[in-house]
Amino acid sequence: MIEQKRHLVTEVPGPESLARLDRKKAFVADGVGTMLPVFVTEAGGGILRDVDGNSLIDLGSGIAVTTVGNSAPAVVRNVRAQVEAFTHTCFMITPYDGYVDVCEQLAELTPGDHAKKSALFNSGAEAVENAVKIARVATGRDAVAVFDHAYHGRTNLTMAMTAKNMPYKQGFGPFAGEVYRAPVSYPFRDGLTGEQAAARAIDHLDKQVGAGNLACVAIEPILGEGGFVVPAPGFLPAVAEWCRANGIVFVADEIQSGFCRTGDWFACDDEGVVPDLVTTAKGIAGGLPLAAVTGRAELMDTVHTGGLGGTYGGNPVACAAALGAIEEMRTHDLATRAREVGATMRSRLEALARDHAVIGDIRGRGAMMAIELVDPDTAAPDAARAGAVNSHCHRNGVVTLTCGTWGNVFRFLPPLAISDDLLDEAFDVVAEAFAATA
Ligand SMILES: Cc1ncc(COP(=O)(O)O)c(C=O)c1O
Repeated sequence: MIEQKRHLVTEVPGPESLARLDRKKAFVADGVGTMLPVFVTEAGGGILRDVDGNSLIDLGSGIAVTTVGNSAPAVVRNVRAQVEAFTHTCFMITPYDGYVDVCEQLAELTPGDHAKKSALFNSGAEAVENAVKIARVATGRDAVAVFDHAYHGRTNLTMAMTAKNMPYKQGFGPFAGEVYRAPVSYPFRDGLTGEQAAARAIDHLDKQVGAGNLACVAIEPILGEGGFVVPAPGFLPAVAEWCRANGIVFVADEIQSGFCRTGDWFACDDEGVVPDLVTTAKGIAGGLPLAAVTGRAELMDTVHTGGLGGTYGGNPVACAAALGAIEEMRTHDLATRAREVGATMRSRLEALARDHAVIGDIRGRGAMMAIELVDPDTAAPDAARAGAVNSHCHRNGVVTLTCGTWGNVFRFLPPLAISDDLLDEAFDVVAEAFAATA
């Protein structure tokens, strides 16, 4: 494994990366941005190495993907063997075991002990679209409910489901219809209990859409791009119960929060919420593109044969990677590791918040933690400070990410293969960044 040490030999980004950035500008569409243009040559554990020879600490996991670490041993082993055996047949033409094995694992690991089935896809957005398709066929209804601050993807339907305009939606309409948005529980900003926030959301949907018209309610159990908002306790169970009582399919979008990230296999496990459908992607396959919809067998089977699929969905190499990633999660008990990493991050962030009043809220669960930066007097979002802290971290060799509707949330998603020393060092840099930008 690559040496687990932060080591900078040039400025970040260095001259070799900057030269490559010019090539990127020449050949890659400007619409595809890069937050930190260091070109990576190697990665593993908690380290990314770049073309200039710099080693940076990774607190982003490629946006919550490399939970098991980059090139984790069981992933590499399985992928190698699969690539040598065969790379593609299309599961819809001639099937193979890996696809079924992944579906079997999903049936076991996702919340609830009822009979479950899955369908596999390539990206999170594709999984969300397919969850909506299944919910519509199963209910015979059209309407889809989503929440403020939601992020579900960039395809046409999922753009409609995503809340934030810039950069995800601007100029890309018209969007898919029959998508309705309700207020979510956002304890830092609304001060409501989970039950109160659920009553508000349910009343909103009841009055503006009508429960009987809703095919599904889709929600991230911990919001991702929208700012790592953790709904107050009681919110998710109350919304799920209302769905059950009204024949509405409850879809948990666990694409960012799933697969050990929050200290459980899935974020819904925390309150024992059992969704009808779960969408997964990101952490599922250690960096290879794979996504899934998993749900109640009778619900999944309402769709006619041939109605779900795609050329590459459940590609054998991606399935082999997923089986390797799940093996890593089980062998190393990464759910427990996520809780340890989360406890370290929370105590470092609490110490930081004592010195910096700009940190208005510390939230998250397990290794999915964030701080919201605000004006201490008015709670107005402070995106400028978040940007300044982020840039300081980057220049000093720590890959951090921001998020949030107002761009004022600083989020931490380290790979769970990161060592305690490296994690501590990364948070020393974060602390320096706050001091330097005060
Ligand atoms: C909660 C959630 N849903 C859906 C998506 C879309 O996934 P993808 O980018 O793989 O299409 C994301 C991606 O960030 C996400 O965080």
